[in-house]
Amino acid sequence: MNSPALCRIILTIMNIQALKQQAGEYAAAFVQSGMIIGLGSGSTAIFATRRIAQRLRDRDLRDILAVPTSLATEAAAIELGIPLTTLADQPGIDITIDGADEVDPNFNLIKGGGGAHLREKIVAQASERLVIVVDDSKLVDQLGRTWALPVEVIPFGWQSQAAYLESLGATPVLRLQGDQPYQTDQGNIILDCDFGPIPDPAALARKIRSRAGIVEHGLFIGMAKDVVVASKSGLRHLRKP
Ligand code: A5P
Repeated sequence: MNSPALCRIILTIMNIQALKQQAGEYAAAFVQSGMIIGLGSGSTAIFATRRIAQRLRDRDLRDILAVPTSLATEAAAIELGIPLTTLADQPGIDITIDGADEVDPNFNLIKGGGGAHLREKIVAQASERLVIVVDDSKLVDQLGRTWALPVEVIPFGWQSQAAYLESLGATPVLRLQGDQPYQTDQGNIILDCDFGPIPDPAALARKIRSRAGIVEHGLFIGMAKDVVVASKSGLRHLRKP
């Protein structure tokens, strides 16, 4: 690759990072003192987590407790000094801020690009308010347009689950880390399932879940209440009516 092309790629990555930062930091302002919060996973949610830590240090925020959605987020929160709790101690969460891989016009999502969608969904379902933070490249008119759907399966007999997903119209690919299967925080594996555009995400979600061995998929239907979108032309805070 020639150096102008490389420079353009680096600039694009830097611009996307800046948009992720704007979205994440904007949403961190929704957190109020005394709240139980869910900390999302991924490269956009981390900006919200860092901003929350900064607000704690500035004493702009007090008495919050956080439930992380992945081991990586837990490690980051510990390093940043955010007090943690668990769903065992705090089964109800006031607000969770998380990223997404795709967002459709009804605020349905594909998540799991980082492999954390199982814990993310558990935390999202326990949350009063789920705020999604994205750059505008994540907005799609139909889920499945740009992203394969991550499906977490237990390792035992996973090939049988891959065949089932294929029968539903997917092209499943075993996610790898190096030359080994990628392992989730639960010790499971992930099949990235290209379904193409998904006309009825709720119906597909039901079919996927009906199979033993499939632990969770990355379709988040009707869970997000707010979407914060950062683009070159500015920030938009979309709210579900
Ligand atoms: C983690 O498994 C995912 O669900 C992330 O929330 C999603 O992939 C968005 O990640 P980025 O903000 O890094 O794009």
